[in-house]
Amino acid sequence: MLDWSEPSASPRQTPPPVVVQSVAPAEQTGLGMIDRRGGRVSVDDKRMINCRADVNQLLPLKYKWAWEKYLAGCNNHWMPTEVSMQADIALWKSRDGLTEDERRAIKRNLGFFAASESLVANNIVLAIYRHLTNPECRQYLLRQSFEEAVHTHTFQYIVESLGLDEGELFNMYREVPSITDKAAWALKHTQHLDDPDFKTGTPQADQAFLRDLVAFYVIFEGMWFYTGFAQILSLGRRNKMVGIAEQYQYILRDESIHLNFGIDVINQIKIENPHLWTKAFQDEVRAMVREAAELEAAYGRDTMPRGFLGLNAALCESYMHFIANRRCAQLGLQRVFDETENPFPWMSEAMDLKKEKNFFETRVIEYQNGGALSWE
Ligand SMILES: [Fe+2]
Ligand SMILES: [Fe+2]
Repeated sequence: MLDWSEPSASPRQTPPPVVVQSVAPAEQTGLGMIDRRGGRVSVDDKRMINCRADVNQLLPLKYKWAWEKYLAGCNNHWMPTEVSMQADIALWKSRDGLTEDERRAIKRNLGFFAASESLVANNIVLAIYRHLTNPECRQYLLRQSFEEAVHTHTFQYIVESLGLDEGELFNMYREVPSITDKAAWALKHTQHLDDPDFKTGTPQADQAFLRDLVAFYVIFEGMWFYTGFAQILSLGRRNKMVGIAEQYQYILRDESIHLNFGIDVINQIKIENPHLWTKAFQDEVRAMVREAAELEAAYGRDTMPRGFLGLNAALCESYMHFIANRRCAQLGLQRVFDETENPFPWMSEAMDLKKEKNFFETRVIEYQNGGALSWE
């Protein structure tokens, strides 16, 4: 089983390729007029951003790391409804199974994720997809988009199973200030791309695109989601809300691939466009990571004002510092916090589902057999 805690097939340092102009520069969507006289695409024509080669030709593959992640995502197929919620329903409805502090943390956690999955999905489909001019990366984005839909489905399923107030949960990103602050911070970094006239191709615009990738892949999915996973999985380790904890394990498995795809994309763009990765820009990215960790610490204090067994705001803050330094290293940046021990070493085990059960193995076989393929 592949371990996505470390990128296994990461971008290699190769000199920027010579760009062969086979279609008009403005045509990066793949939906422009067909260039009947254009040549066949060769590997050297392909580029992550501002590519002028036909984006409708998947083959020949250039970025094998992107294709491998697409295959890994497909092998991890799961649906939330396959997880039993019976134990969670009984515990949630019982009078004294959960403390008030645990209920508050669970609800805020679900509220943060419920809308965040949609924010991430919208950013992929409406902002990133258009400007990432490589078909194998787009193939992965299509798979990732579906996975984000499955994650949003998970929160619908949880709300329905536990009989939670759907309006309360799905509006927390607007109504609970510590959650709104995080969502608003990330959205600030995608505002440029939301402008219909936005185009990559200048250093300023290309850096704006990189900022979006950092905000969503590295910070939203790669930092904030991780403390959210730690909170629920910590309860699961104490045999509380085990159905949700199991679903979070599958989401974590997906998200670790999303994160590593984003890191590889950023690193490959850096290799092909070294002029974008200036000292000033590196400082800016480090400042983003630091700011994001502070927002998360505020969210932790709001979510767990008193804390509970095995989990409190201070532990979550030091976990965030550990993760922040790790993300900086993955991007080739100096760490932003003092070196910190991982307070949740069991999180890496949580990602290795195979130790627990053979869920994916059985699922994959069933999906492949799919008696399901009868359309009557
Ligand atoms: Fe997700
Ligand atoms: Fe994701």
